[in-house]
Amino acid sequence: MEELRELSGAERDAYFRGVHPIWGGGLSEDRFIAFQRRLAEACEAGERHRLIGLFEGSRLLAAMKAYDLRGTCAGKPLNILGVGAVFTPPVLRRRGHARRMLELAIADHASRGADAAILFSDIGTAYYQRLGFRPLRSEECTADSSDLPRSGAQDAVPADEAGLTRLFARSRANNGDLTLARDGWVLRFQLRRLRELARARGVAEPEWGIAVRDQGGEGAAMVRMARDAIDVLDAAWTSEGARDALLARLREVLVRSGRHRIRLWPSHQLRGLFPAHPRASALAMVAPLRPGVVVSASGARADLALLDHI
Ligand SMILES: CC(C)(COP(=O)(O)OP(=O)(O)OC[C@H]1O[C@@H](n2cnc3c(N)ncnc32)[C@H](O)[C@@H]1OP(=O)(O)O)[C@@H](O)C(=O)NCCC(=O)NCCS
Repeated sequence: MEELRELSGAERDAYFRGVHPIWGGGLSEDRFIAFQRRLAEACEAGERHRLIGLFEGSRLLAAMKAYDLRGTCAGKPLNILGVGAVFTPPVLRRRGHARRMLELAIADHASRGADAAILFSDIGTAYYQRLGFRPLRSEECTADSSDLPRSGAQDAVPADEAGLTRLFARSRANNGDLTLARDGWVLRFQLRRLRELARARGVAEPEWGIAVRDQGGEGAAMVRMARDAIDVLDAAWTSEGARDALLARLREVLVRSGRHRIRLWPSHQLRGLFPAHPRASALAMVAPLRPGVVVSASGARADLALLDHI
């Protein structure tokens, strides 16, 4: 008899070990497991980030991360199940375990009030389309340091959580496209992730939040150091001067860290700044979980920032 339930400590470790070759991000297995364990146990994870699996007795058949998110589409609020890191152990693949787990997780969340489910696929779109998900337009932008303004960073300081929350909330596009809320939890969880990642990498705390201010306004960005680039997870500003100051600050961070480009997803105020190209992975997909709920049509634009890919 199969059942869906949360993973215990030892089951979590087995899951982390399984996904390490895929999503380990260059960390050794031990460091990756310690990182994932600390994140799962962090108070920021709370009730809104769970590790669940499909079991047959005590045997783990497939596992995933389930996020409890908020969002809007067509101006209507949505409770959203975020699906992440779907994994079946290699020897158990192609027997429908992942499909069954997703179906049960979706039914369970729908019965508890979820309106929609969202995921970012690394295996194309066909598999998840068969489960009722629709592909959304998925693009990314990269900009070289030479594309960023040189001056403007008058007053740059590390950003705090409250400042990031306030500016990001203000910058939401509200154009009817599907978007995920920046409620305090999402930022807090992502900040915890960045701190734990820095710790796992054994580096001193990097700059993950940047705040700037000039006479006319303020701006802030949340960033992550990737191997070859700096990922701008989200950014917002209240004036063009503050935007340029923020971009100039990002340029300085690039130069100082020996990286050459920034990467971001075009959304909210970040849309239209740099040319956007279709991206090959983390393809955004959404599924309505009950009749009558409005979610984007196939191929529609979505206002999702890199930060939403938690
Ligand atoms: C993807 C994965 C979870 C599927 O688990 P599973 O229990 O074998 O899934 P199911 O039995 O329900 O479905 C198997 C189908 O998944 C699809 N699939 C699996 N891997 C795929 C890939 N890399 N690209 C495209 N489709 C893929 C195929 O349609 C496959 O059927 P087929 O081999 O007969 O064509 C599993 O292969 C896995 O853990 N892969 C590594 C982690 C990963 O990439 N996860 C997905 C992240 S978005």
